[in-house]
Amino acid sequence: MSTTVVVTPPELPPLRLPRALAHLTGHLLTPADADAVLTLRRTVLSTMPAALRVADPVRAFAPEVEQAWVAKHLGPRASTLALFDGQTLIAFACLLLADAQDPEDPGHLLKLSDPDWQRGAHMAACMVNEDYRGLHLQTKLLNWRRSLAESHHRTLLMGMTACGNTYSRRNMMGCGLGIQWVGEWRPDSWWHILTMDLKPGAWVPDDTRHEWVEVSNLARQRELTADGYVGVAETALYSMERRKESRLQFVHRIPLSPQGNLPGQVTDQSFAGLPQERLPPPGGPGTARVGGTVTSFAGPPQERLHPLGGPGGARVGGTDFSTERVE
Ligand SMILES: CC(C)(COP(=O)(O)OP(=O)(O)OC[C@H]1O[C@@H](n2cnc3c(N)ncnc32)[C@H](O)[C@@H]1OP(=O)(O)O)[C@@H](O)C(=O)NCCC(=O)NCCS
Repeated sequence: MSTTVVVTPPELPPLRLPRALAHLTGHLLTPADADAVLTLRRTVLSTMPAALRVADPVRAFAPEVEQAWVAKHLGPRASTLALFDGQTLIAFACLLLADAQDPEDPGHLLKLSDPDWQRGAHMAACMVNEDYRGLHLQTKLLNWRRSLAESHHRTLLMGMTACGNTYSRRNMMGCGLGIQWVGEWRPDSWWHILTMDLKPGAWVPDDTRHEWVEVSNLARQRELTADGYVGVAETALYSMERRKESRLQFVHRIPLSPQGNLPGQVTDQSFAGLPQERLPPPGGPGTARVGGTVTSFAGPPQERLHPLGGPGGARVGGTDFSTERVE
């Protein structure tokens, strides 16, 4: 049975998992979890083709690159939820508040306006241990991050995935994100930026203007996104069609705002460059629910490192939380 516990923002939202995964536990990572998360990151990255990795494959494991990654994804601007099977970290996913000071923030490529920066959040870095794939954990973690972003009043969600990362693209689109930018992130590594606008009434799809494009036709996808289209669907590979390649459907967006602006619409898809980082704060006390368990946190990561008293108190990976089984 799935779980349903409503937690008032800015507390952490529940993570709903099927009963079969109720033995998993979860907590927000802190810098104290760096070794465990880097171990999973190294394992996962080393199995991925170079073109699908966001980090430069040559430098991905360099100490300074790993340190920068930890500072960003376990730092004050990040909320990174990790799932554990016993003591083993088996998956994690990060939500970063959008930050115009961060040159790597996808908001730059989307050319966000000032108001859109204030309501943006980046669903960054999701990794699942190979032994736990196929259980829809990415989808669960996408939906959890959406709820978390809403609790921070962040209504413009962004996600990035390499154009060849079929599972990740389909999971993001399945959660309601649409392709809004296509471009070369690194030489020979093309990426989609997907967005979901939770603010009602920004735009409506133009039913009369849509186009199906081969997944591999990145040039056409790029033209369409630059022209105000968004990728919203992917063909199933019907056996009667016998197509070797699936196609993406792009629909034109009709802006509803008086100014006629689409949130985050890109007119020039040139790539400005990447580099370093910087961070403001989300955080806040909260309660997360994982696999039938309500997990209560006493405060933001740095303040949560004290033993919890009373029944159900537990300590996992350096973070304390109490658990309450809910059927
Ligand atoms: C992309 C990723 C997060 C998806 O995780 P997930 O929660 O397992 O996703 P799903 O449960 O939706 O499974 C997706 C597909 O992976 C398949 N899969 C891949 N490896 C598998 C394995 N070892 N065991 C079972 N299924 C596996 C599943 O069969 C499923 O395909 P299907 O829908 O045709 O059945 C995960 O594959 C991963 O960590 N990849 C490397 C890092 C990455 O690409 N992250 C995303 C960056 S944007």
